[in-house]
Amino acid sequence: MDRSVRKIEHIQHALTTNEYGFNAFDEVSFVPNSLPGVSLNSVSLQCDLGDFRLSSPIIINAMTGGAEATTEVNRKLAVIARERGLAMAVGSQMAALRDPSVQESYRVVRKEHPRGIVFANVGAEATVDEAKAAVEMMEADGLQIHLNVMQELLMPEGDRDFHGYLDHIRAISDQLEVPVMIKEVGFGMARNTLLELMQAGVAMIDVGGRGGTNFAKVENMRRTLPLTMFEEWGFTTVESLLEASCVRASSAPILATGGIRHGLDAAKAMALGASAVGIAGAMLRCVQTQSIEECLATVDNWHYQLQVAMTALGTVQLNQLQEQPLLITGKTAERARLRGIS
Ligand code: FNR
Repeated sequence: MDRSVRKIEHIQHALTTNEYGFNAFDEVSFVPNSLPGVSLNSVSLQCDLGDFRLSSPIIINAMTGGAEATTEVNRKLAVIARERGLAMAVGSQMAALRDPSVQESYRVVRKEHPRGIVFANVGAEATVDEAKAAVEMMEADGLQIHLNVMQELLMPEGDRDFHGYLDHIRAISDQLEVPVMIKEVGFGMARNTLLELMQAGVAMIDVGGRGGTNFAKVENMRRTLPLTMFEEWGFTTVESLLEASCVRASSAPILATGGIRHGLDAAKAMALGASAVGIAGAMLRCVQTQSIEECLATVDNWHYQLQVAMTALGTVQLNQLQEQPLLITGKTAERARLRGIS
């Protein structure tokens, strides 16, 4: 299968498989505060993700590039990122490292967002030289390395050998001049993985949990014999954040991606310990179905929803959300209990 055809199919199937209905964030609630004692004007959305000072905790997470038709998607995403001061990641650059003719579909992001925080993106099979080349291509401020074993296994033309990933991650983290973030793509992470990554010296981790874009469903749409039994594989983003709370001691800052639908989900993710949140599918839906102005209004609305939640809770800084008590119910509570988290 031609890589560029795959990139287009991923975009199409991601839009049709993701319903943004109920997810684990609906099983998390804040405890209300009728006397918050703050004003909405005093609420700040500034936050730190590792070494990065962000003016918004919302990051446009890795999606695309690698085919001519994806240039316009990346261009629109970059314009939105620039206009609202969001950090942004490009999709996997493995295609562009092997075929320079598609580099423009990624570089357009740096052209449109010249002073913004931009992350390059490679797979864990990348060598140190490939990782450096991906960063150079984007003049990137950081590098994401994605882990997507289940996606590869379900992808008809995907990888089947996963040896050596941790060695690559360690070598790249050691030798790159920019911070390295390891990310899942929607299957979440358990504490063992988080611990191994932290011990390998990575600067940041995106837990990339289940609840939004479902790459098992996306790949099943591309298979003649779908393996539907894997569509609920992994940990939700909420469960992954609870797992991360068990390994906070040797902490790397956590990004929460996977099923963030609005500002209240973002507030809950940060209350659960995330330093910032990533949004992919909801942003893709926006740029594929709406004008740039409408997308900017959506981002403004997400920011406002976050400010509303913070004001109602009496928190003026995002990191104060972590002090808020949370109620966790349903399947999430039951599964957390089985993992020894109460
Ligand atoms: C992705 N994602 C992704 N991640 C990555 O690290 N490299 C990649 O190339 C891609 N490609 C990609 C394509 C498309 C069309 C989508 C929608 C997503 C995964 C993405 O960054 C994110 O982890 C998941 O989509 C979960 O977040 P949402 O979509 O639930 O907000």
